[in-house]
Amino acid sequence: MTGGAGFIGSHLVDHLLAEGHHVTVVDDLRTGSRDNVRPHAGNPAFTFIEADVVQPLGALLADAVRAHGPVARVAHLAAQISVPRSLDDPLEDLRLNVGATLEVLRFAKATGVEQVVFSSSAAVYGDDVTQPVGEGATLAPISPYGVHKLASEQHVRNHARAGLGGTSLRFFNVYGPRQDPKSPYAGVIGLFLDRALRGEPLTIFGDGQQTRDFVYVADVVRAIAAALGRPGRGESVNVGTGSRITVRELADGVLAATGSASAIAFGPAREGEIVDSCADIGRARAVLSFEPRTEVAAGLALTASWLRARLAGDR
Ligand SMILES: NC(=O)c1ccc[n+]([C@@H]2O[C@H](COP(=O)([O-])OP(=O)(O)OC[C@H]3O[C@@H](n4cnc5c(N)ncnc54)[C@H](O)[C@@H]3O)[C@@H](O)[C@H]2O)c1
Repeated sequence: MTGGAGFIGSHLVDHLLAEGHHVTVVDDLRTGSRDNVRPHAGNPAFTFIEADVVQPLGALLADAVRAHGPVARVAHLAAQISVPRSLDDPLEDLRLNVGATLEVLRFAKATGVEQVVFSSSAAVYGDDVTQPVGEGATLAPISPYGVHKLASEQHVRNHARAGLGGTSLRFFNVYGPRQDPKSPYAGVIGLFLDRALRGEPLTIFGDGQQTRDFVYVADVVRAIAAALGRPGRGESVNVGTGSRITVRELADGVLAATGSASAIAFGPAREGEIVDSCADIGRARAVLSFEPRTEVAAGLALTASWLRARLAGDR
């Protein structure tokens, strides 16, 4: 797995180890943290390699392959995850988001990997699509991040035509424990919860009427695991809940989940931000037998309790 020390990746590590798999993670910790995988440190079924994935992976993984056998499946989660940063430095975004995917695919093809699951994004759709959006919608990403996710999907598709099993999962807004609220690229839920628990104002960029499909990380992990376990033909599959809430409603939900008296403030709308976003998850249901299980209120409560414990530990 690439990016296994990150937010989504570390939950996938927990899940796959609990299912009895051997898991090797390549992560350079640029946004991830060893703390996220520390509970598995002494586990012989877990190997952690601290390295950039944009390098020949065959050499990097040689020792792990000698010890545990060839890699059967790859979940590729490592990425430059910030839309604003992709606008500031599109070439670096290209290297990290397309270059990494190409290296993963090259390694997979050369070593007989059965399945590659690529973590794509709803950002491939752009802002001019009817919601809820299905996979057949026009693809017109408005940021380098979205363009590069789309390019990677096409590389996955082309490799699948040549016989490599692969699936691209288009994650909508994922949230949950371990999403670093201090990161400038943190998801809005982490930022709001952090501010609410500190009694600071929640800032909404724009009028707060923009909508999002917030999907809890445990649901996303089940979708990735399902994709890893089936023969992919290069298809792209939405992973969301199929329902949306406004950012304003979210802010109110965060105040309710935390019991906070924080004020809600408004700032200027952000460049490159998609106005409305909601997944049509018909294909995920059909291909992955995927069904989201976590309501936003329950997911917010779980995330708030994790963050509360973390903030208490920081003191
Ligand atoms: N969180 C979301 O809402 C969301 C939505 C859509 C898509 N995604 C995608 O899901 C994937 C995981 O995102 P996340 O939210 O867990 O982010 P994250 O930043 O927590 O995880 C990414 C991990 O990849 C590692 N990484 C990045 N570049 C690397 C490189 N070149 N070499 C080695 N390791 C590298 C980071 O250190 C980190 O541990 C990403 O591909 C992201 O684009 C996430």
